[in-house]
Amino acid sequence: MRSLRQILSHTQGCGVALGHFNVSDLTLLQAVSAGARELGVPVLIGVSEGERSFLGTQQIAALVKSLREQYDFEIFLNADHTHSLAKAEEAVAAGFDSVVFDLSALRPEENARETKRAVEVLKSKNTSVLIEGEIGDIGTGSEIHDRAPDLRPNLTSPEEARQFVAFTGVDVLAPAVGNMHGMLNAMVSGATRKHLDFERIRQIKAATGTFLTLHGASGTDDRDLMGAIAAGINIVHINTELRLAWRRALDDSLARQPGEVVPYKLLPPVVETVKQVVRSRLELFNRPQQSADTQLAS
Ligand code: G3H
Ligand code: ZN
Repeated sequence: MRSLRQILSHTQGCGVALGHFNVSDLTLLQAVSAGARELGVPVLIGVSEGERSFLGTQQIAALVKSLREQYDFEIFLNADHTHSLAKAEEAVAAGFDSVVFDLSALRPEENARETKRAVEVLKSKNTSVLIEGEIGDIGTGSEIHDRAPDLRPNLTSPEEARQFVAFTGVDVLAPAVGNMHGMLNAMVSGATRKHLDFERIRQIKAATGTFLTLHGASGTDDRDLMGAIAAGINIVHINTELRLAWRRALDDSLARQPGEVVPYKLLPPVVETVKQVVRSRLELFNRPQQSADTQLAS
């Protein structure tokens, strides 16, 4: 079984990206796992601090490990948006493959200093765990927003990205390149889509030479996602689109079976609906992009 780092090097060389999907329950985990297995592609499961507190950090680690072993497929686990070293250490101890250490809400110097410390501490516990750092403001909440969030105005510059990566030693960087967490109502209806700054991604890639993650990808125009992968994005995070599909399918299943109380009769249509969303995103992320940056060695 390849490591997560090996997968990222390989997908980068192929001009494709690794799909990262957040899960909050077994229905979503089954949908993501089945979608990736059907397509025969690796996948990264994400659980934020909130999702971990509901699922249990050790319990989700055990579930993902059991899927990896039973089906012998490349499914990895990421401690998404982790805001403290204690929570990050808990995830590493439970066997997570990567941690998004997210202090992007702090002042840049403080974010850099604390992230550097986290990289040192976490790598001393597990040398192969990948640490992602985050800079810039892309808002919070994988939810439906009534209005656009008030983001700090500046997108990530190549120079600040270079300095952050060189100083902290992170393996992966999450920049602000036009992305935003969650979806606006107008995105749910399809009236608008998110758009990304490819040139900035390309410059950040050239300046840092590191793996890049696109957070907040729900509701992004498909051509922009392909352009972002071609420009150097290696991991694409999707959460709200799955939550939306989950909610709609659950409402539908409950409405169709008003007297039903058996979860394993109500929930399979929900798994199926979410799985179709996962498949459509994975098909897109795994479509080779021509100008992929192949310079980064593992
Ligand atoms: O870390 C999670 C993602 O960045 C999800 O963002 O809810 O906009 O898909 P999203
Ligand atoms: Zn995110």
